[in-house]
Amino acid sequence: MSEPDPFRQGAPNARDAVRALRPSQIREVANAGFGVADVLPFWFGESDRVTPKFIRDAASEALAAGATFYTYNLGIAPLREALAGYVSALHGQTSPDQVAVTSAGVNALMLAAQLVVGAGDRVVAVTPLWPNLVEIPKILGASVQTVSLEYGPLGWTLDLERLLAALTPDTRLLMLNSPNNPTGWVMTRDEQQAVLEHCRRHGIWIVADDVYERLYYGDGGAHADDAGAARSAPSFLDLAARDERVICVNSFSKAWLMTGWRLGWIVAPSALMDDLSKLVEYNTSCAPSFVQQAGVVAVREGERFAQELAASLRESRDHLVSALAQIPGVDVKTPPGAMYLFFALPGAERSLDLCKSLVCEAGLGLAPGSAFGPEGEGFVRWCYACDPARLDLGVERLRRFLARR
Ligand SMILES: Cc1ncc(COP(=O)(O)O)c(C=O)c1O
Repeated sequence: MSEPDPFRQGAPNARDAVRALRPSQIREVANAGFGVADVLPFWFGESDRVTPKFIRDAASEALAAGATFYTYNLGIAPLREALAGYVSALHGQTSPDQVAVTSAGVNALMLAAQLVVGAGDRVVAVTPLWPNLVEIPKILGASVQTVSLEYGPLGWTLDLERLLAALTPDTRLLMLNSPNNPTGWVMTRDEQQAVLEHCRRHGIWIVADDVYERLYYGDGGAHADDAGAARSAPSFLDLAARDERVICVNSFSKAWLMTGWRLGWIVAPSALMDDLSKLVEYNTSCAPSFVQQAGVVAVREGERFAQELAASLRESRDHLVSALAQIPGVDVKTPPGAMYLFFALPGAERSLDLCKSLVCEAGLGLAPGSAFGPEGEGFVRWCYACDPARLDLGVERLRRFLARR
């Protein structure tokens, strides 16, 4: 037997903060179903439809024209200008120097956190929540306190006083996602106003994840489209001046079905842009050049598509809610935003086990509520961004599965 090497320092482990990150429970369910031939996958946050052709054509043309080089860190000027115009139309005057292009929403969230959060900082997040918002500050050494939404007859609602009480003066950052993944909860304008004023008083940063803002089914008010529907969920951008401690994160993934393209953006005070540019340099250097060019076309020519998508998702939501409501034991409400139903059903008090059984025994792929924090236990998430006929097939599988139990 050879002697132990004195220069070896134990197993080659990652940092403690990284080792402590939660692995994806949705992935765990998907792995459990590996080998099951016929699974209906409603577990991921993505439509079953391909990106619109006019956007794909724009990328092909940009590639053919040789758009294969690095770009500026903060994005090509035409895209920053197009996005500034888009954000201005939805949320009030925004200039290109307040917009940065990112490699999708995930990267935008990481950059936003890197801008303002360091080791030992206190971060507050409203949950249940897509895990990235809770885990990203932990990668940076921050501690995260969660404030849970509450479930009742009106669906998921926020106890505003509890959130304000958690936002103590020593809090560095509030992470919020509205419309929310997984619950579909949407923060009201009044709640945003109260939170903004509180954060202003204590110098707390707000990172608002607005990636589902176009998937909103509420009242249109002043921002209605031709059919009277709202063009966007309420956003802090409607209330805050552009030089406040507010960073809004957005993405091309949801409004224009561009998940695989990895393109997004940040709206932030222009005073942050030089530092943000350095962070982009050290993370990704820039978003892909031909993808950015296609992004210009998506923003400039994709308004009708975004509105039609929201209208068809609203129909899918209503379709699925009424079908699920007929299954005994299922407690489902109609959420005002995003593209998920987060509902309770028998057996979901152990949602991970239930979802594994559903995939293996019924060929139905749902995400366990516990994947979105302990507050999500008792629920499952169903992404309804797909053909209604497939939704019906899934509902029938769920009905039979529950009847057998
Ligand atoms: C709440 C939320 N934020 C951000 C994202 C990031 O999406 P992307 O990185 O594709 O832009 C997602 C994706 O599902 C999400 O659910």
